[in-house]
Amino acid sequence: MDTIILADYLSTRLDRSRGEPMYRQVLEHMQQAILSGELPPGMKLPSSRTLALDLGIARNTVLHVYDQLTAEGYVTTTTGSGTYVADTAPREAAITRAEPDTPRKPCMISRRGERLVGHAGVSPKQWGAFMPGVPDVAEFPARTWSRLQARLWKKPNPELLTYAPGGGYRPLRRALADYLRVARSVKCAPDQIIVTTGIHQSIDLSVRLLTDVGDRAWVEDPCYWGARSVLEASGLTLAPIPVDDEGLNPSARDMEKPPRVALVTPSHQYPLGMVMSLARRRALLEFARQHSVWIIEDDYDSEFRYGSRPLSSLQGLDDAGQVIYVGSLGKMLYPGLRMGYMVVPEHLVETFRVGVAELYREGQLMQQAILTEFILDGHLTSHVRRMRGLYGERREILINAIRARFGDTLAVRGDEAGLHFVLELPGEADDRAVTAQALGAGVVTRPLVNYYMKEADARRGLMLGYACVPNEQIAPNFSKLAEVIERELTAPKQRIRQQA
Ligand SMILES: Cc1ncc(COP(=O)(O)O)c(C=O)c1O
Repeated sequence: MDTIILADYLSTRLDRSRGEPMYRQVLEHMQQAILSGELPPGMKLPSSRTLALDLGIARNTVLHVYDQLTAEGYVTTTTGSGTYVADTAPREAAITRAEPDTPRKPCMISRRGERLVGHAGVSPKQWGAFMPGVPDVAEFPARTWSRLQARLWKKPNPELLTYAPGGGYRPLRRALADYLRVARSVKCAPDQIIVTTGIHQSIDLSVRLLTDVGDRAWVEDPCYWGARSVLEASGLTLAPIPVDDEGLNPSARDMEKPPRVALVTPSHQYPLGMVMSLARRRALLEFARQHSVWIIEDDYDSEFRYGSRPLSSLQGLDDAGQVIYVGSLGKMLYPGLRMGYMVVPEHLVETFRVGVAELYREGQLMQQAILTEFILDGHLTSHVRRMRGLYGERREILINAIRARFGDTLAVRGDEAGLHFVLELPGEADDRAVTAQALGAGVVTRPLVNYYMKEADARRGLMLGYACVPNEQIAPNFSKLAEVIERELTAPKQRIRQQA
């Protein structure tokens, strides 16, 4: 292509009626022509004056295009000599020669990426009856928050607008340490607190710093799919351990192969809701001490208990410095806040402070400062107290609706705490099919079977979140769900299974 044809080439492609600036259009067409070889390496480009005249556009536009092409390496400019198309073809060494008819191997996602996406549990719907695990965000004291936010943004301290090295905003770490010592009997000094974007990140950081790819991890079976995904994506080999009414219940065979890490929910087993007994807690701590096992204690929703006081944290019983305690503000405030905390043993403080900054380049100090004021002014405690009352009422309304419809034929499990409980279905029922049909009727629930790694051992049931459903909407929504359940329970077994 010579210089005259370049002008022809461009003028057939430029669209002067389009809103897109001439500069962008000329630039993009020239880039494409260079990449495709239509403008070959070494070819001299016409002067900016000539090309501008031929195209009937401003010379400055062409000058800008040439400057941008030079900056991006498409052309080289030598003073006095002109502008030439650069040689941008990949070097020989970068290309291995394949036989002409060897089929091209497509770029693939990794096996762990495939597993992650294949087992994903996240629901596209995150709100409404009976979405489990979601607090009533409509009740969040937005006015108070925005007042505190406005005050801090009025004259922002520059240090709050930078990255957050060192595990988070120091006053927040102090406030959280005070709160956790009193509310959860966690043994901690402010230095041991690391602020994160939530439990997912806390688990991710812990396993990256404390385990190696291929290490064994114990997980409760059933367990929270999100935590399972984080562990698997870190390259750990998961060993599902059954739970009974006292919590994690490893067999003698399980104990023959001690893991590197065990992830547990002792205060409120997720999803079944039992509390790990003191005897099991002590046994787990002793086993961990003898076999150098890290324990991650996920204390995701223990603020919401509706009767007895909760048992203290497992971390509070640990004398060997092997428990990493992780918690979240997502359930207390709102999930989209993405804020959580971890308490690490004293000897790991420096490792975690460096790790969190190195891996995630933490920030959000301004949000952390707002939260600190919110806690110190007493708003967190009063909001949690108010929500505990509200969720307690909703829990009762839902249980009454269940009893009114099904009497004692379907058991409710794990209703003493949290934002959800499990409505058990008979072993032969298909909870996945019930869930799919309920969604068709506009009701969200989750099948219990999905939380198990060993599906053959799975109990069948529905996870029902009541916290985010206004009182008056609970009974009508449950009525829709009950119709689906009744249809499934009275259907012949073959029909139930066909729909799986
Ligand atoms: C047991 C459990 N752990 C952790 C989380 C997620 O916590 P975060 O939002 O802080 O990552 C959930 C969310 O529902 C959960 O159920």
